Amino acid sequence: MSSKLQAPRGTFDVLPAGAPARAAVEAAAKSILEAAGYRRIETPMFEQTELFARGVGEATDIVQKEMYSFEGFSLRPEGTAPVCRAYLEHGMHKLAQPVKLWYLGAFFRHERPQAGRYRQFWQVGAEAIGSEDPSVDAELIVLLHALLGELGARELRLRIASLGTPASRAGYRELLQAYLREHSDALSEETRKRIDLNPLRAFDAKDPGTQRVMEGAPRLADHLDQDDREHFAQVTDLLARAGVEWQQDDRLVRGLDYYTRTIFEFSSDALGAQSGVGGGGRYDGLIEQLGGPATPGCGWAAGVERMLMAAEERPQPEPGCDLFVAWESTERADAFALATEGRRAGLAAQLDLAGRSVKGQMKQADRAGARYVAILYPDGTVLRDMDSGEEEKVERSGVVAGVLKGRHAL
Ligand code: HAM
Repeated sequence: MSSKLQAPRGTFDVLPAGAPARAAVEAAAKSILEAAGYRRIETPMFEQTELFARGVGEATDIVQKEMYSFEGFSLRPEGTAPVCRAYLEHGMHKLAQPVKLWYLGAFFRHERPQAGRYRQFWQVGAEAIGSEDPSVDAELIVLLHALLGELGARELRLRIASLGTPASRAGYRELLQAYLREHSDALSEETRKRIDLNPLRAFDAKDPGTQRVMEGAPRLADHLDQDDREHFAQVTDLLARAGVEWQQDDRLVRGLDYYTRTIFEFSSDALGAQSGVGGGGRYDGLIEQLGGPATPGCGWAAGVERMLMAAEERPQPEPGCDLFVAWESTERADAFALATEGRRAGLAAQLDLAGRSVKGQMKQADRAGARYVAILYPDGTVLRDMDSGEEEKVERSGVVAGVLKGRHAL
């Protein structure tokens, strides 16, 4: 006996009823990002595993536990490392900087599935590579804010913080490690294991004991250098000028290791546990990490499914049908030719493909929302206006012109 075949756990099918809402996300992203000079880039669905190990970070959950890997390659868990790899590979440093790119595609993480968390999900992302100016960070955040607004995302919060440069972070890291070691008895085992590799993750711990210890932990914000502080102040000033509200959150933790200076996240209180709608930040060391020259960069990604969940459901227009061609059995070839002629003239045209009776075809035309139906009988053709119910005898050769004329008259 064969078992029932199903989509893999944590994946989903997008059925026709769900497609228009996703197309609307794509259209909004394209119009908002391209109006600001971002151009679309596509990178492969899989890359060398080493790209993510070096880019995203060996110590991250993503690289340690969540990648689908085979033969030295991994399905992409995120888009920033691949876009930076493409920037280097194609010598984009020769273009005017920053190079502004956006993408929309599927990403893969072997996480425990739950509402809003999938093993294959879609992201819209934007990356601006080649400038460390704070206006880059602010522009990116304003654009994500605009996209979420355009889609009608509810109960949004923007949290933002600065991680500083690697140099200022290194000093802070040692301080934090010393503090965590001092309190290691009260920490969860997971946090204790991460003290060496990734002590910052302790701020993200769910365990109450660890959380209590973290209340008194030294804060990175108090250990940033002057340049980092100024950079952050300029980003937040520009956000205020753009009328975007934000909260500083020094406990904000992102699950990827490439960040420097600005990090941010939009969440929606309308969502459950997986409330992160989109986030990102600056990654001034990433390109160098991948073997290129020191090149600053900044960007974000937002989950398509999470954005749709956070948005009010909106009725999406159904595709229309200008002309439905119905036919009696001998007239199949003529009907086929007429529907083809109509499509070539720019009409949305359909015909019966299942050998229904003329009565059955009229029902089908109704279901398709047809504006006109041409009924092809052996002894002539009738054109029916589905709105008024009027029928008239017409020449077959005049059907398309008649429907076009009727459409223009509307
Ligand atoms: P991320 O925070 O890992 O960042 O993912 C960005 C967004 O993708 C999340 O806010 C969430 O909406 C969505 N997402 C992530 N994992 C899942 C999942 N398993 N199921 C459904 N949605 C998910 C990045 O990926 C960075 N590359 C963002 C970035 C771009 N930073 C700089 N540039």
